[in-house]
Amino acid sequence: MSGVEPKGRLDALKLAATGCHACRLESTRNQVVFGEGHPEAAVMFIGEAPGKAEDELGRPFIGRSGMLLDRLFEECGIDRSDVFITSIVKCRPPDNRDPKRDEIASCQNWIESQIRLINPTVICTLGNFALKLIRNDPTGITQVHGQEEIRTVFGSKVWVYPLFHPAAALRSTTTRELLKADLERVNELALRPIPSTS
Ligand code: URA
Ligand code: SF4
Repeated sequence: MSGVEPKGRLDALKLAATGCHACRLESTRNQVVFGEGHPEAAVMFIGEAPGKAEDELGRPFIGRSGMLLDRLFEECGIDRSDVFITSIVKCRPPDNRDPKRDEIASCQNWIESQIRLINPTVICTLGNFALKLIRNDPTGITQVHGQEEIRTVFGSKVWVYPLFHPAAALRSTTTRELLKADLERVNELALRPIPSTS
């Protein structure tokens, strides 16, 4: 694939994902929500699964959670067009139920390919589902939010930076303050070198 621009490779991956029928969610979705943003973003934000608004418009984080995220990004100097935003499950679960284990497993190849192509410095997980998949560990978000850590994720070393999901921040002002404080450190983290040994 040498000579092909990163954007071209990501667009090709998106086209392939658009036709995915690998799990039961294909029968209830309106569309696959691949994610969007800079094809060579230093920072990726990874949520759980699309909701109603995302399923209707095909874009990630554009409903109530997304509007809060946008506001917090603005307050923290994060430019949405500089980062890449997606979720671990690309199709909306009916009635916004939690994604099931087998659905997460079926969808994993898409997030894995996205991470390999984008090759970010920082992976910000939003909420428990993304945290547990990316860290491959059951530790919960309340324990580790805001604690960056070098991990090998699908073959490359990155800063994994666990954040609360904005949906949780909509339910609690305390969580919202914690999410904002954690987001304020994202730009600094993106500039921090990845240690060669750890
Ligand atoms: N919540 C998510 O986790 N992802 C979206 O795209 C929208 C809401
Ligand atoms: Fe494919 Fe993922 Fe959608 Fe399931 S959720 S159909 S695995 S894109």
